Amino acid sequence: MEINKGLENVYVKETSITYIDGELGRLYYRGYSIFDLAELSSFEETSYLIWYGKLPTQSQLDEFKKRLAEHRELPASIVDFLKKVRKDANPMDVLRTAVSMMGIEDNNKSESLLDKAISITAKIPTIISYYHRLRKNLDLVEPRNDLSHAENFLYMLNGNLPSEIERKVLDVALILHMDHEMNASTFACLVVASTLSDIYSAIVGGISALKGPLHGAANSEALKMFIEIGRVENVEEYILKRLENKQRIMGFGHRIYKTYDPRALILKKYAKDITRLKGLEELYKIAERVEQVGIKLLGSKGIYPNVDFYSGLVFYSLGFEPDFFPTVFTSARVVGWTAQIMEYLQDNRLIRPKAKYVGEIGKTYVPIHNRS
Ligand code: CMC
Repeated sequence: MEINKGLENVYVKETSITYIDGELGRLYYRGYSIFDLAELSSFEETSYLIWYGKLPTQSQLDEFKKRLAEHRELPASIVDFLKKVRKDANPMDVLRTAVSMMGIEDNNKSESLLDKAISITAKIPTIISYYHRLRKNLDLVEPRNDLSHAENFLYMLNGNLPSEIERKVLDVALILHMDHEMNASTFACLVVASTLSDIYSAIVGGISALKGPLHGAANSEALKMFIEIGRVENVEEYILKRLENKQRIMGFGHRIYKTYDPRALILKKYAKDITRLKGLEELYKIAERVEQVGIKLLGSKGIYPNVDFYSGLVFYSLGFEPDFFPTVFTSARVVGWTAQIMEYLQDNRLIRPKAKYVGEIGKTYVPIHNRS
């Protein structure tokens, strides 16, 4: 009996959504290279591609953008919750609870799964921005339907219209995080969905899994590492000590990629531009040096920078605080989760694996007063 710890190399479904070539460092959504999508597409267009399986025409895209924008406002109960919840909470816990509340508000509405997916995706940036501002005692900035998804997100977060470069950088980052085939959080969503539970519960499962530092929270851990290092000259000693202490370099390594994660390659370029614009170039230089030293020490084992290595620098430059980074990741990955759930449910099979029993059997039950 073979045990697949970590389910490595176990296939649980067929998919036509995302293809990863881990040896060559390539990623495709619906057959389109991530390099092209990041350069040429937008959050809305790539979401459409992932959900509908094809690129939209101009009129389809216009209609879809309108539909997404119409769902940005939050139910009063969620705004109330955000105002009352403690200000030092982990933003992923707040987001997880708010999405759960969305399920309660939905109350089994007879909408399609795609309608629900659109509604959840449209509302997540509002939840994130509202909690960000409430934590800083700032007035809430209500969503604007005339702005794109990325523009509106930054507008609600920072209270002013983003520049073109800020808009572009967020659009790119969201596209890069949108789907990644069968990772831990997507699988968590499928486990819940396969019981024929509801989509909100499945997304809550996904958020719970993404929260961990081995998955979606590696971005904030990577940034904390750059801040802790402080100066480019300190990098080598810091990394050597970290590895000596059996600690990992955050934002390095991947179960599937044995070379450079293409998302890290793309983000690096944007991280360089946006950090320069925001006066954070020292942090970028530290990151670049960590990358060089890390590859020198770990590259031969196939351990290279992953998406979380440069994304933290990008999110930080755009105004997100480090503990919010996994929520930004969620705001994009929710598209992939919902698409993968809908694909799985077309031919659902309850996910019910097995565990190999290694304990004793046939023991005699001893009444409590006779136990020593
Ligand atoms: N720094 C140092 N050593 C590492 C690292 C790292 N970042 N990643 C893997 N290794 C080593 C590990 O110590 C082990 O060495 P040995 O065989 O000598 O014991 C070997 O590589 C294999 O590690 P593993 O944990 O069994 O491999 P995995 O396929 O489960 O690892 C990973 C994947 C992402 C959990 C791991 O690379 C890691 O912990 N990275 C740091 C956290 C991180 O950046 N996570 C984000 C992942 S990408 C975004 C996402 O999908 O969420």
